Amino acid sequence: MGAMPEEIDGVVALMTETSQRIEGKRKYISGRIGDREVVVVFSRWGKVAAAITVTTLIHQFGITELWFTGVAGAIDPLLKIGDIVVATRLIQHDMDARPLLAQHEIPLLGQAYLETDASLTRLAVEVSRRLLEEQRLHELFTAHQLQAFGLEHPTCHMGDIASGDQFFSRDEQRIALQEKLPGVLCVEMEGAAVAQVCREYEIPFLVIRTISDEANDHAAIDFPAFIREISSNYSAEIIQAMLTK
Ligand code: ADE
Repeated sequence: MGAMPEEIDGVVALMTETSQRIEGKRKYISGRIGDREVVVVFSRWGKVAAAITVTTLIHQFGITELWFTGVAGAIDPLLKIGDIVVATRLIQHDMDARPLLAQHEIPLLGQAYLETDASLTRLAVEVSRRLLEEQRLHELFTAHQLQAFGLEHPTCHMGDIASGDQFFSRDEQRIALQEKLPGVLCVEMEGAAVAQVCREYEIPFLVIRTISDEANDHAAIDFPAFIREISSNYSAEIIQAMLTK
């Protein structure tokens, strides 16, 4: 499942024996990659859209594992555009049922942070580190692209990701989130919803995000350029490598 149509195209290009089904405005593409049966879909944007898509994958397509890829805005100042973050936990930064519950706690689950599957996460980190080796990046992108996006030595990180129904495009938003949830590496709009549905249906899941912008005043410019030129290659490479391990 991907948060960008461009990423989906890259993954669909790896598939054989494909067939399509439209459900609730989404195109679910079933087929194989190597010897694995897969379903690939663009989630649309935001937590509700992501939750609908995961629930459909579970009920209509009988998935047994969920892999999510997409882009995110950096919150931790150590992260740079082009870095990869593999989530260990996800949190809804806009969940707030105070004074009934603690801030960020998901009603009836009694938890704010939800953990990803440990072995899928380890595998994703291993293949992402290999993708980011300099030689592989030079095979995938031109020297001009690497320079334009400042992809000099991108690195892979593991840690907490925050999700909510907001695009972060101002420095104040980034600073406020850092103060509210110190330790969060990056922000996006779907991962924690995927985590909640998978948790409630007991489906192991993985969330991989590439940093497209720094969740600041420049985000609205960096984000579309990164999507157009870089991100689709990342997802297809990571997924292919994970499936052939
Ligand atoms: N996904 C990618 N960049 C983002 C940002 N700045 N805010 C929210 N979601 C994002």
